[in-house]
Amino acid sequence: MSTTQNVLVTGGAGYIGSHVAWRLLENGYTPIVVDNLCHGHEWAVKFGPFVQGDIADEDLIRKVCEQYKPIALIHFAAFLDVAESVAQPEKYWDNNLRKASILFKTVADCGVKRIIFSSTAATYGIPDTEDSITEQMPTSPINPYGESKLAAEKFLRTLTDVQSVCLRYFNASGAAPVSVGLGAAHWPVTHLIPRIVLAVSGHVPPISVFGTDYPTPDGSAIRDYIHVTDLADAHVATLRYLQDGGATDVFNLGRGVGYSVRDVIDQVAKSLGQEVPLVYADRRAGDPPRLVANPSKAGEILGWKAKLDLQDIVASVCAWHQSDRYSSYLQEARAKQA
Ligand code: UFG
Repeated sequence: MSTTQNVLVTGGAGYIGSHVAWRLLENGYTPIVVDNLCHGHEWAVKFGPFVQGDIADEDLIRKVCEQYKPIALIHFAAFLDVAESVAQPEKYWDNNLRKASILFKTVADCGVKRIIFSSTAATYGIPDTEDSITEQMPTSPINPYGESKLAAEKFLRTLTDVQSVCLRYFNASGAAPVSVGLGAAHWPVTHLIPRIVLAVSGHVPPISVFGTDYPTPDGSAIRDYIHVTDLADAHVATLRYLQDGGATDVFNLGRGVGYSVRDVIDQVAKSLGQEVPLVYADRRAGDPPRLVANPSKAGEILGWKAKLDLQDIVASVCAWHQSDRYSSYLQEARAKQA
């Protein structure tokens, strides 16, 4: 009899999902990836079986559950571009809430009673505090992305026969070691760290520092950057917690350390030994001045703590961008755009 336990990973061809699939395999589980490849990449699925399809395709999900009998669902497969969510809110409500709800109900009906949901610090909106953010703080999202994620969290908690955990990520960044062959591959690139690295290599224009008048020591906005490998390991810890009978809950995933945009630029300049070309710009709409997690609850209950720091994150992004995989991805993405 096989001892490996299957875990359904929806959105497992995407950035965080593929890293979680890797860490699941490393920890003795087999990830069963379902992804429609609308943003994910088939090359990122290499740690277990792959089923191409939609999360709201009930027949497909039922078949996958019958065939693989997963012990849990870890759900990514969401849209996450804040600006796009403001321009096209229906797209976010449809995918991030309606389709997610169908998926949750379908798997629960098939006997999958443990669900881990990929949520976000965007559920907190603009926190009315100088302190780091605990799970007890009020949720008050300021865009359809955060609203749709919070609504999906609430829907999940209505499934009382399911043990569920919502993981609210702060700023996921970084990449697995180059030998693993995973990293963020989106185009256009909007996130700060990969964008700075591409600005240095001349693939994008100089970086715009969005906002110089925030109430922070250097006037630029502060975020809690967490390495995607640490984030992925938190999912394994959560799975073990649920397998041990842990109750439905919500956890913040961050390091509890804030860095300003200027700090991050300085770190990239140091890692690459090159100047970062930059311009100063107005604040970006909807950006909170400071978002820093209090990750104590995840430490106490899940026994998880981030191990990697900003220097590790930046070094891993630089290495990923220099890899053959990322270079060929970038070439294709730019050719498509041209
Ligand atoms: N920034 C710049 N210039 C850029 C890009 C970003 O100054 O070219 C700044 C932003 O204004 C922000 C910081 O760098 O202050 C980080 O920006 P990112 O776009 O990398 O990330 P966000 O903080 O906007 O958002 C991320 C995720 C969201 C999630 C949020 C929660 O993308 O999905 O973290 O913290 F909701």
